[in-house]
Amino acid sequence: MTTAPAARRGAVGTAHTRVEGRDKVTGAARYAAEIPFTGLAYGWLVLSTVARGRIRALDTAPVLAMPGVLTVLHHGNAPRVETDYPGVMGTKPDPTTAVFQHDRVPHVGWPVALVVAETSEQAREAAESLVVHYDQEPHDIAFTADHPRAYPADGFGPAVTEKGDLEAELSASAAVVDAEYTTPEEHHNPMEPHAATARWEDGRLEVVDSNQGTLWVAAELANLFSLDPSAVHVRSEHVGGGFGSKGVRAHQVAAVMAATALQRPVRVAMTRRQMFSLAGYRSPTSQRVRLGADADGRLRALEHRCLSLTSTVYEFIEPGSGPSRVMYDADAHHTLNSIVRLDVGTPTWMRAPGEAPGSFALESAFDELAEKLGVDPIELRLRNEPERGPVSGLPFAGRNLSACLREGARRFGWADRDPRPGVRRDGRWLLGTGTAAASFGAGAVPSTAAVTAEADGTFTVRINAADIGTGARTALTMVAADALDVAPDRVRVRIGDSDFGPAMIAGGSMGTRSWSWAINLAAAELRERLTPGGTVPPEGITVRSDTTAAIGALAQKERHSYGAQFAEVAVDPATGEVRVRRMLGVFAAGRIVNPLTARSQFTGGMIWGISMALHEEAVRDRATGGHYGADLASYHVAAHADVPAVEAHWVDDHDPDDPVGIKGIGEVGIVGAAAAVANAVWHATGVRHRHLPIRPDRVLLAGAPDA
Ligand code: MOS
Repeated sequence: MTTAPAARRGAVGTAHTRVEGRDKVTGAARYAAEIPFTGLAYGWLVLSTVARGRIRALDTAPVLAMPGVLTVLHHGNAPRVETDYPGVMGTKPDPTTAVFQHDRVPHVGWPVALVVAETSEQAREAAESLVVHYDQEPHDIAFTADHPRAYPADGFGPAVTEKGDLEAELSASAAVVDAEYTTPEEHHNPMEPHAATARWEDGRLEVVDSNQGTLWVAAELANLFSLDPSAVHVRSEHVGGGFGSKGVRAHQVAAVMAATALQRPVRVAMTRRQMFSLAGYRSPTSQRVRLGADADGRLRALEHRCLSLTSTVYEFIEPGSGPSRVMYDADAHHTLNSIVRLDVGTPTWMRAPGEAPGSFALESAFDELAEKLGVDPIELRLRNEPERGPVSGLPFAGRNLSACLREGARRFGWADRDPRPGVRRDGRWLLGTGTAAASFGAGAVPSTAAVTAEADGTFTVRINAADIGTGARTALTMVAADALDVAPDRVRVRIGDSDFGPAMIAGGSMGTRSWSWAINLAAAELRERLTPGGTVPPEGITVRSDTTAAIGALAQKERHSYGAQFAEVAVDPATGEVRVRRMLGVFAAGRIVNPLTARSQFTGGMIWGISMALHEEAVRDRATGGHYGADLASYHVAAHADVPAVEAHWVDDHDPDDPVGIKGIGEVGIVGAAAAVANAVWHATGVRHRHLPIRPDRVLLAGAPDA
């Protein structure tokens, strides 16, 4: 570990428990749906039961007569909102959250009404009693690789990148892999469901929410309701998980409408079932990868095509070919992201959007190529380390993938591996090991911070950061302490308040880096202003920072975190059961601020990878267009028994272009993890699984090797 150059005792790099940990385990920390308000009313969303059509009528009269019911909002009476503006986080208008504006139903689970009552129970009872009549139309929810309405789509970069003559290079290759891979629809399922309370207070709209960025939500609400941005105040102090799902969604918009209509505070919380329709999700993908290589493993051809789906409401792309654009180069290098619009809800960012499913296809194909060439999979990757970004042509800033692969191989015991598949057994179990590489973008986004020297010798940091369970608040406390050259217990970090000014959201693995930069800048200036032996006035001394100029001055480079994933699995050929026995990841992800919570981020990502490889799959009923079993009983995720030994390590990877040396750790942990498991299943059984999840029935149907 490196130490902070200017630090007195250097909190950064040492393990710290969460500064709000005691509040969380004692229940003192309140989540969005638990904060009391005087005169609070409760809204309950009513979701459509048809996948396509129009609302003909809503029988509101009997519901309005039910106990405690205050109002029923729907397209016929709800306040109008503005939708013709590019979203804060997008480039085109996104009407996904503009609820109750028209009678069209674009998917099962579209909000058609909000019932508001004095109690949550009354609201629920009334909402479930509301009869809605639809004019139903035929729907199409069938996601297929050859869907006739699929089209190339930009998003997270251009739809198409092309270099060289692909067919010529494939023909000249000593070994070729041409394979199709699929990943299913997956859902974030953060433990804390989405919840928001809205009220008008002294002419300002105040929203208490659970989100990944209060200013993001505030700006979208200001746009939707045509309010001055300064008239919207959003707070979000504790967040029980987000993973990309906690932006602006229907519940906040509905709560604001009801608070406006009733002129009293209104809370709208999603149920777990409603989250499957309203919180966004990861699109399924259908991918084709073609690789061609010389006998020594050098790539001549790389093609990666990824098809994802979106709703008829908004074009959201899951950019699965993204990893191929930065991981490996080839003489001919082609990538494509395409999309098809179906009668389903709008997908959204979900932990490592693009990279998570894309790396499954790419890193599985690499394993297949290694098998064909008879080259060790790690060696094959080392031989294909590019000099520059394969698509951008830019130099890499600290590409430490080789170090991860070598250190991972050493720790995992890769050298002892027999490359032949299906030869290791432990009783009835077939054993195998697999590996995969990982990368995720390491960026920083302009942010502002305020640091105050208080008269009592403590410091207060105000920054519009979000701690969605990552430990960001603690990491920022440590960064601030080092920047101020004081002990962490003299620093108080306040986050999650849109009044604190612009700052990066908790997303894209860029939060801690972006926020730390702003804190560092403000703290440095504050230290200059504090004269030794001088006194601090009662109101304190506050310095504000803005990193726009500093970040704008960064040289254009390929900037990424990296990782190497290793898995050992046991497969029971009689039942088709796959058990992960151990998993090990080594990451190069910049300077690690807090090893305790960083390890949790990495292993959390890896466990998501195990879950993606073996368990997760949201299934829709083609007849209704809705989900089967939209709950945590039917939507399987890896549980404790599924993750016996998961280890994360890191190599020294101080980013010289960041004032604290940080890159980002939130998402790289899932990248490649599912491929490592799938590659291990191949090694155990000799059978290649290209469709996730690797369910027992798929293992059984694929057959077992002769033994
Ligand atoms: Mo993440 S998908 O950037 O919240």
